[in-house]
Amino acid sequence: MKDNFNVAVIGAGYWGKKVINEYLQLAKENGNVDLSMVCDVKDENLTYCRDKFGVSEEKLKPSYEEVLSSNNVDAVHICTPNETHHEICKQALLAGKHVLLEKPMAMRAKHAWELVGLAEHNGLILQVGHIFRFNNALKTVRDLVAQNYFGTLYYLKLQWTTLMSSPFLDSFAREFVLLVLLHLRVTVCLRCGKHRSERAPQVHHTRKGT
Ligand SMILES: NC(=O)c1ccc[n+]([C@@H]2O[C@H](COP(=O)([O-])OP(=O)(O)OC[C@H]3O[C@@H](n4cnc5c(N)ncnc54)[C@H](O)[C@@H]3O)[C@@H](O)[C@H]2O)c1
Repeated sequence: MKDNFNVAVIGAGYWGKKVINEYLQLAKENGNVDLSMVCDVKDENLTYCRDKFGVSEEKLKPSYEEVLSSNNVDAVHICTPNETHHEICKQALLAGKHVLLEKPMAMRAKHAWELVGLAEHNGLILQVGHIFRFNNALKTVRDLVAQNYFGTLYYLKLQWTTLMSSPFLDSFAREFVLLVLLHLRVTVCLRCGKHRSERAPQVHHTRKGT
């Protein structure tokens, strides 16, 4: 794969906008990557990308077929709704584009396997965007498991909690309530004298957003 490549984002909805912003930052920091096109069937999302991110008019496309037929696109990042993943990804691979496909790969396992086969057959990279795959907290947990830190594992539960806004609490009150609950939880665990090897480890990653 060449060092310098152009990426197009297909789907500029909630997630796509974040992704587009990341590519634009990457392009600023690293001249090897460029956001060559943005595609969405909704005009308002294209307008948003133009006004908010400064994506030029000629890069905004309402049809992904036009993106796939462009020689100026090496890879596509597909951020469209789940049920469209298989078809758009398939067309992208057939058009010779490398693909970063948002999770889930497809709605049916056989469709996912078909995409894997197509990528292999055409010598293309197909990557699936699972958000926590390269997360440092998960990497640490995996290292700890490998070091047998937890003892014998029978059950592993990973929970991702989200700080949603509440109509009843302002942000300060919400942080305060969370701190109190966290303190209570730690205290209860300590009082119960739970030994680390007897408990199933739980990883709580809390962040604002999705
Ligand atoms: N990796 C992660 O952590 C993560 C997080 C959030 C969402 N996602 C994934 O991202 C995808 C999009 O989620 P979302 O919340 O942004 O949805 P969304 O509905 O906000 O955005 C989807 C966008 O795709 C556009 N679209 C639909 N069909 C299209 C087509 N044929 N061609 C071009 N554009 C088309 C829609 O107009 C919409 O703007 C989903 O598959 C979701 O699972 C991944």
